[in-house]
Amino acid sequence: MSELTDMYAQIRVCPKCDLSQSRTNAVPGEGPENAEIMFIGEGPGFHEDRQGRPFVGPAGQYLDELLGLIGMDRQKVYITNVVKCRPPQNRDPLPYEMDACRPYLDRQIELIKPKVIITISRYAMGRWFPDKKISEIHGKPKRFGDLVVIPMYHPAAALHQSSLKATLEADFKRVPQILKDISAIQPAKAEEQKPPTEQLSLF
Ligand code: URA
Ligand code: SF4
Repeated sequence: MSELTDMYAQIRVCPKCDLSQSRTNAVPGEGPENAEIMFIGEGPGFHEDRQGRPFVGPAGQYLDELLGLIGMDRQKVYITNVVKCRPPQNRDPLPYEMDACRPYLDRQIELIKPKVIITISRYAMGRWFPDKKISEIHGKPKRFGDLVVIPMYHPAAALHQSSLKATLEADFKRVPQILKDISAIQPAKAEEQKPPTEQLSLF
């Protein structure tokens, strides 16, 4: 048994927040332990709670399609969520629930050491890009030490709002090139510290 599978067993019986009371099954996450790409969603929905597996409902089917666009499939990527148990009626996870669950996600990241994390939920994005808007930063990779993080729209958002579909698909299609040129991705901090713009001096 690996440390990761050991942790799955712990998560399945985890009592650390109230979501443990309402879940059918916890959804630890799945994928190869050496995956290069990790997706982080928000939390299990109805189907995930039933099956104990991430992204197996309509959003998951669309995620499979998106992976197909770049010649990937879910056997090759790691997929998990910010909270491992379904919030009742799919409400947003509460801050205390995310805090309680965070050590699991922290350890998943440490053990898997993905090259790229693609955040596909607001709360996953907030971990690396607090106070940023998805409409402004989607699809743009940023480096955090050895890790590159790309924020993207949630597949369910694109299913509900078809204008986002083309954007999400275009962002996905850039992933192979990002992986190829990964060493050229700039740190998030350095970019933010740059003077606002050099164009100002042109005026
Ligand atoms: N939405 C999520 O954020 N995660 C899932 O696992 C399924 C739907
Ligand atoms: Fe434990 Fe996370 Fe489930 Fe809360 S959401 S019970 S912290 S596994």
